[in-house]
Amino acid sequence: GERAAAAETSVGFPELKRVMDDHDRIAAGYDRKVLIRWGDKVLPDAPEFDPANLTAAAAARQFGTNNDLLVYLPLPIGSGRSDHGLLFVNHEYPNPQLMWPGLTEDDAGAKMTEAQVAVTMAAIGCSVIEVKDDGAGWQVVAGSRYARRISPATPMRISGPAAGHPLMRTAADPEGRTVLGTFDNCNGGVTPWGTVLSCEEGFDGWFGGDPAKTEHAALLARYGADKEEDGYGWGRFHDRFHYEREPNEAHRFDWVVEIDPYDPEAQPVKRTALGRFTHENASCVVAPDGRVVVYMADDHDFDYLYKFVSARPWNPQDRAANRDLLDEGTLHVARFNADLTLDWLPLVQGEGKLTAENGFANPGDLAIKTRLAADLVGATPMDAPEGFSVNPVTGRLYVALTENEDIAPDQVNAANPRAPNPEGHLLELTPPAADGRIDHAAARYGWDIFILCGDPAKPEARARYHPATSADGWFTDPDNIAFDPDGRMYVCTDGPPDAGFNDALYVLDTDGPGRALPKLFYSPPRGSECSGPCFTPDGRTLFLSVQHPGEDSETLDAVTTRWPDFRDGVPPRPAVIVIRKADGGPIGT
Ligand code: FEO
Ligand code: CA
Ligand code: CA
Ligand code: CA
Repeated sequence: GERAAAAETSVGFPELKRVMDDHDRIAAGYDRKVLIRWGDKVLPDAPEFDPANLTAAAAARQFGTNNDLLVYLPLPIGSGRSDHGLLFVNHEYPNPQLMWPGLTEDDAGAKMTEAQVAVTMAAIGCSVIEVKDDGAGWQVVAGSRYARRISPATPMRISGPAAGHPLMRTAADPEGRTVLGTFDNCNGGVTPWGTVLSCEEGFDGWFGGDPAKTEHAALLARYGADKEEDGYGWGRFHDRFHYEREPNEAHRFDWVVEIDPYDPEAQPVKRTALGRFTHENASCVVAPDGRVVVYMADDHDFDYLYKFVSARPWNPQDRAANRDLLDEGTLHVARFNADLTLDWLPLVQGEGKLTAENGFANPGDLAIKTRLAADLVGATPMDAPEGFSVNPVTGRLYVALTENEDIAPDQVNAANPRAPNPEGHLLELTPPAADGRIDHAAARYGWDIFILCGDPAKPEARARYHPATSADGWFTDPDNIAFDPDGRMYVCTDGPPDAGFNDALYVLDTDGPGRALPKLFYSPPRGSECSGPCFTPDGRTLFLSVQHPGEDSETLDAVTTRWPDFRDGVPPRPAVIVIRKADGGPIGT
C-alpha cells in the first residue's frame, strides 16, 4: 500500500505541512540558520546596513540583494574539505519597492532618483565570501582576502568567437572586447578546475528606449526586447542602457561569465562560445575522453536546451592550462524525438542552413544570434527550461520545465505534452555508456518524462508522480535542481499556482521504490522562493538562497514579512541559510 511504498524512499525526514507564513519552516530533525543577509559586510571596510539610508557606496561593499546561485569551493583549493571554503553568490535583481517607501514594482523604474538607481546597480551582481565551520557552526570569515563584490560596473573581458565582432562594439568600447559588468545573474555552475560559471538571464527589462527604432529590431525582438520595459530606470541615467542611444550594448549581455573566486584579482570573462540566450544555468561534467560538457537551459517559453562540448580535454594537473578551455568547442541544441530518443544538433557556422545567406557569416554571428541558429536547425521548443543537472550517482540528467501558459494544443510535442502547461514538468535524459562510463559527449541520448507537475488529486491536471505522493508533497513550477552526494534530488519551485501555499524545497529519489515521490523539506517565508541549493562534499551541509522574501508586498509600508530580522523599520532581507541535520547526518536522510 501507500504507506509501505513511502517507507522505502531514501528520503528519511518527516514531511512538512504546507504553509503560507511570514516565517520559514524546516522539517523536524533539521536546523537552519542565517549565514549572511542583504546589506551584511562583504569587504572589510563595508559600513553597517542602514536601511533608512541606502547608498551605492555602501552597497558596493555589502552583500547584495536577491541572492540566487550558490557555489561552495573548498579551501585550500582541491582539498575537498567540508568545513572551510569560499561561497560564490549571484545577486539576480533588485526589488526597489522593498528598498524605499513610495515605490511600487510597476512605477519604480519611472520614479527612482539617480541615487536610487545607483543603489540598484551596486546591490546586484555577485559576491564571494569565505565561510568556515570551526565546530560551532558556519560563519562568514571577516576580513577574508578572497572577499569580493562584482557589479554591473566591473570590467570584464569578452572572449571566444564574439570578441571584437561589430555587433559587440560600442562608443565606450570600440574594440568590442571589454564590457562593464553583469546583471540578471540567475543560476550557473562550477567547472572541474574550480571556477564559477555565472549566468546572465536576460537583458530585456533592464534597458530603456524602443528597440524597434534601432537597426537590430528583429534580433532584439527575438531576444525578448520590448519598448519601455526599463523596470529599474537605468536607461534614464545611462545611455548604454538605452536601446536607441547605444543599440549594441544589449548584445554584450545574455552570456555565461567565468569567474575565478580563488583569485580575487582575476578579471571575469564572458565566454561567448557558450552561446547567447536567457542563460538559466551551466552544469559542467566531464566526458570519458576528458572533454568538458556544459548543459544549459534557455529560460524562455518555446526556447531550447543546449550543450557545449569543449574542443580539448581539461588538464587536471595544470589549472592554468584550462584558463581558456571554454573558448573553443561546439554548441549543440536538443531535438526530442517521439521514439524517446534525443539528438544533439551541432550549431556550426557554415554548415547546413547556418550560412552567410542566412545571417551567419562568421562564428561570432552564430554566437551572438544563437537562438536564430537553433530556430533554423529544428530544435524542440520547450516549456521554459530552467534547472538542468546531472545526478552524480547515475549520470542521468534532469530538466525542469517551469511552465508555459501559452502553449496551444497544436504546439505540443512528446517532451512538452500538455497545453496549456501552467504547472510544469520534469524530464529525464539518459546519455549512453561507453566502456562502462557515461558519455556526455554523445550525439544521441534516450529520454522520458519523469514528473508531470500539479495536484495529483485533480484528474484534469494530468499530473504524474509516485502514487504515494502526499497532499503536501506535490509541487508546481520546478526551477533549480540539485543532487546530494547520494543522488537524492532537490527541487526548488518558482511560482505556485495560487496563494494557497508558498514556493518551497522538495526532496525525492530518482531511482528505486521511492522514485518520483517528493517530500516537502523547507518552506521559506512568504513572497520568497528558495534557490541555488548547494552541498558541501560530505553532503552534511546545505547552503540555500532565500530570494525576494516579501515580494508579494505592494510597498515597503505594507510588507508581508520582515524575515529574517523581524524588526520594525528593517525590511525583509534576502539571505543565505545553512541547513544541517540536528544529529549531524547526511541531508535528506
Ligand atoms: Fe532566474 Fe530562470 O530563473
Ligand atoms: Ca532560476
Ligand atoms: Ca524567480
Ligand atoms: Ca525562475
